[in-house]
Amino acid sequence: MNDHRVLTIALSKGRILDQTLPLLAAAGLTPAEDVHTTRKLMVDGDYHGTAVRFLIIRAADVCTYVEQGAADMGIAGRDSLLEYRPRVYEPLDLEIGCCRMCVCGPKGLVEAGVPERGSRIRVATKYDYLASQYFLTQGVQAEIIHLYGSMELAPLVGMAERIVDLVETGGTLKANGLVEETTLFDISSRLIVNPASFATRREQIGAIIAALTDAVKAKGEG
Ligand code: PRP
Repeated sequence: MNDHRVLTIALSKGRILDQTLPLLAAAGLTPAEDVHTTRKLMVDGDYHGTAVRFLIIRAADVCTYVEQGAADMGIAGRDSLLEYRPRVYEPLDLEIGCCRMCVCGPKGLVEAGVPERGSRIRVATKYDYLASQYFLTQGVQAEIIHLYGSMELAPLVGMAERIVDLVETGGTLKANGLVEETTLFDISSRLIVNPASFATRREQIGAIIAALTDAVKAKGEG
């Protein structure tokens, strides 16, 4: 079965976009306008003379658009993939957006030792599922306090004893008197593909995966 819709690629806005665009360009995928400055959420683009389009959306929403088939492919952080577990293919590690997901806390609390089995703590995070799974394995009763960002603030105002968040340089932790306790996952951005799109547009999507694979390799060697 052939699908003649314009191939749609969902991209995360925010800091990851800066690393995504050069990789896409190296693979021959170029938006027709500057996705940093436009207020448009859907931007036309080109793939070697074939029309494509880009959706510029929040990182956590990329999984949803691709799972629903509203986008054929997308670029999503491993953090979102682990948290939301969308039914999508994940054919390529793009080796950008590299960071780690950690349990962190105020220096004094972390130095006092990991929470004891059976103890109760409050954990601020946007990764409710992953945080609760982790503390279950530790036998710690964690009350998950859901936040949408700036998790580092929660311990400072006495709202949580720990946070589960992404750490890249460690600068935000340090500036707020927090330290890492445990690394849960290494994180990077992944190419994801809707399974039905892959079945119906195997040739085009396969070519893009191959081009991005080469671009990732070339960047690693460069
Ligand atoms: C991320 C993350 C940390 C920070 C880590 O937040 O949630 O707060 O970056 O980076 P660092 O270790 O280099 O300091 P981001 O700035 O993406 O915004 P958010 O809090 O809205 O998620």
